Amino acid sequence: MTRFDLQLRHPNGETPILVGDGVLLGEEGELQDWVRQRRVFVISSPRVLELHSQVLAPLSRQAADLHMLEVPDGEAAKSVGVAEGLWGEMLEAGGKRHSRIVAFGGGSVGDLAGFVAGCYMRGLEYVQLPTTLLAQVDASIGGKTAINLARAKNSVGLFHHPRRVIADTRLLETLPGGELRSGLIEVLKMAILSDPELFWVLERDLDGLMAGDSIALAPVVAAAAQAKIEIVERDPVERGERMLLNLGHTLGHALEAALGFQTLRHGEAVGYGILFAVGLAENRGLPLAAANRIRQLVERFELPRIPAPEVDTLIRLIGRDKKAGESGWRWVLPTDLGACEIVSDLTEAAVRHELAAFLARFEEAS
Ligand SMILES: NC(=O)c1ccc[n+]([C@@H]2O[C@H](COP(=O)([O-])OP(=O)(O)OC[C@H]3O[C@@H](n4cnc5c(N)ncnc54)[C@H](O)[C@@H]3O)[C@@H](O)[C@H]2O)c1
Repeated sequence: MTRFDLQLRHPNGETPILVGDGVLLGEEGELQDWVRQRRVFVISSPRVLELHSQVLAPLSRQAADLHMLEVPDGEAAKSVGVAEGLWGEMLEAGGKRHSRIVAFGGGSVGDLAGFVAGCYMRGLEYVQLPTTLLAQVDASIGGKTAINLARAKNSVGLFHHPRRVIADTRLLETLPGGELRSGLIEVLKMAILSDPELFWVLERDLDGLMAGDSIALAPVVAAAAQAKIEIVERDPVERGERMLLNLGHTLGHALEAALGFQTLRHGEAVGYGILFAVGLAENRGLPLAAANRIRQLVERFELPRIPAPEVDTLIRLIGRDKKAGESGWRWVLPTDLGACEIVSDLTEAAVRHELAAFLARFEEAS
């Protein structure tokens, strides 16, 4: 069993983050201690429970009682109504301040469960058992929790760090190819931001990683998680450097919204966003060799073809992004492989010009 013991230090303490192939089995003792004699609420979704509920068996033996709280699969879980329903069920079942919450699912379940835990009785302890690649390398790390309002994703939430994160890459063996691609693009993002060696590993091993090989995935998840940990530790509540994690997200979020959140997975939209950022960065001196390596790697992901949205629609949506900043747009642009900068001096006219050329290129290709 490969096992990587990571640690995130944050203003409220430390969160151990355990990554590896089969680590949930090895971690039984720690988890069992944490739930012993407690009322435990497992928040999960039907698909995840159908595939993997057996890994929860040791918890049910130690907990005073274990309640399974099912929420819809995917983004539909992150609503005020679902959160309210969970609080109601927890009250009904006798949930108290010292009860425990286990988030068992992808980033949607994790964001919702963390939010529900952070608000219930002013804060319950919870652990994250992320079951998608995106959740293992990104969503479960850093303490951000959120639900969506009808008009804006992640618009209500709080920082509430889990007690521990256990990312078992064996759970990823059942993940559909599109979800693996989406998560691997977030790994690519971390590699471009700060880890040229991880970039090289992606170039070398992409085929096996895309096939969901849990042993090959373990060190890659650990490296991407470690890269995120380092950024979050330097900027725990997103005042500055943490915005780097937004690489590819400015256009990515706008594309997701323009296409109605149905056509592209989050990571796939970020893939298009990274390509666009590379174009903007080249105009400011990103070396051609680095730009080409990024483009070639993104190409190997075979992003789904999409109808090109109107430039005006995207410009409006980019302006609405909550990370756009009060005083203007911010873009994260690579300066080399393993280094990026936050740029706020790009005019709307310059972005509009680049966007028109970018959209024309992928309209030709489709
Ligand atoms: N909090 C953060 O810092 C942060 C960071 C990035 C993303 N996010 C959030 O994460 C969410 C996206 O998360 P996601 O990409 O994990 O998607 P997801 O949670 O919506 O899951 C995608 C699908 O995969 C299924 N699934 C989960 N585990 C599986 C498994 N092991 N095998 C087979 N199917 C499985 C789910 O049931 C769902 O249908 C978004 O809401 C996004 O806002 C949060």
